[in-house]
Amino acid sequence: MNKLGFIVHPINAASFNEYFIFKNIISRVLSERSCGDLIKYLPTYRLCGIPNIRSVKGMATCADIVLVPLLPKHIAVMQEEKVLKKIEDGIKICKKNGCGIVGLGALISVVGNEGEALSRRVDIPITSGNTLTASLTLDGIYKAAYAMGVSLSESTVAVIGATGDIGSICTKVLSKKARKLNIAARNEQKLNGFADVVRQHGSADIEVFKYTKDAVKGADIVLCAASAMTTIIDPASLKPGAIVCDVAIPPNIAKEVALYRNDILFFEGGLAKLPYPNDITGKAVKELFPKDSIYGCIAETMALALEGRFESYSIGRGNITEEKMSEIKSMAGRHGITIADFCCGNRALTARDIENIKLNAKNKMETYYAAKR
Ligand SMILES: NC(=O)c1ccc[n+]([C@@H]2O[C@H](COP(=O)([O-])OP(=O)(O)OC[C@H]3O[C@@H](n4cnc5c(N)ncnc54)[C@H](OP(=O)(O)O)[C@@H]3O)[C@@H](O)[C@H]2O)c1
Repeated sequence: MNKLGFIVHPINAASFNEYFIFKNIISRVLSERSCGDLIKYLPTYRLCGIPNIRSVKGMATCADIVLVPLLPKHIAVMQEEKVLKKIEDGIKICKKNGCGIVGLGALISVVGNEGEALSRRVDIPITSGNTLTASLTLDGIYKAAYAMGVSLSESTVAVIGATGDIGSICTKVLSKKARKLNIAARNEQKLNGFADVVRQHGSADIEVFKYTKDAVKGADIVLCAASAMTTIIDPASLKPGAIVCDVAIPPNIAKEVALYRNDILFFEGGLAKLPYPNDITGKAVKELFPKDSIYGCIAETMALALEGRFESYSIGRGNITEEKMSEIKSMAGRHGITIADFCCGNRALTARDIENIKLNAKNKMETYYAAKR
């Protein structure tokens, strides 16, 4: 059986109302706030399925999507054991339904060291999906730099959440390509230790930042990969013409950023597209993903299922290598799963949008440099 399971959690109370089967009843009786507080008492349940996910090679797989009813704030403050138990219940539902591998979406993988603790509790392969996500993230940055006419070798790149699973491999790879890296995370000791490792890895200058707002100031490219519970980047701190790739779920920067800053290229990173995008059918499934794309973490799980590689592929923080990124990218590519188009708040960015961003950036640049003098 090449079926896959995928575990998700609601990003906020409003999105949970959308997913919840008794949505009409609950929203009539309860306010959004009290609904948000009660969610955590619900059991894990199967949310929906994707019946036919086709590969360009002619084979197909299908998926069960299981929802762990915990908001980011619950995942952050609840006892880890209670969160792991709810996720374990979800993995068991997938196994009972015949899945051969289970992917862990968004913050689900962050708990218990990127699936490591869970892999000891269940007898089915699991993956955080972070290897393909990181590969898609880096490819998105290269594509955006090309589109904006930004040379990576002359750029300062800020990585927020640099010590994380996705952030750390992206930092290592970028240290061989960028001029300077501004790295940030909350745990300063860990960040300083990691900075020393990266200095051995590549040629970029590495500067460590305690505060996110200082790290992004003046950066040409910003990679947001922090597992923060709310937005942590103020759009006002960004330089005109900056490229911002936000891979975090929930996002590190409000998706409405384009409303305030028409001079920066903001896009959601780590997204893939299927060879047959219409395979994503059904309201509940569509609401989970940005328009015409899927998250890298489920894309990795799909690629593994289509390849018949039922193994725990991305497990444990800090284990992603460049070799593994190329391997999973090739696997996904064989089945026609590739990088998604630039997407911002459910809107695809066109070549014309990018030209406008470049023009707006050029106009604002003069004022920006005058203010700095
Ligand atoms: N788009 C996709 O397909 C996809 C796939 C998988 C994961 N994700 C998302 O990607 C993000 C990163 O995942 P991961 O697995 O790499 O997480 P991770 O290993 O837990 O790393 C998170 C990083 O963020 C830092 N961090 C956490 N809170 C922060 C804050 N408030 N301010 C600054 N830094 C903070 C952490 O360091 P400190 O604790 O020291 O601050 C760490 O460096 C998550 O939001 C996850 O949901 C997206």
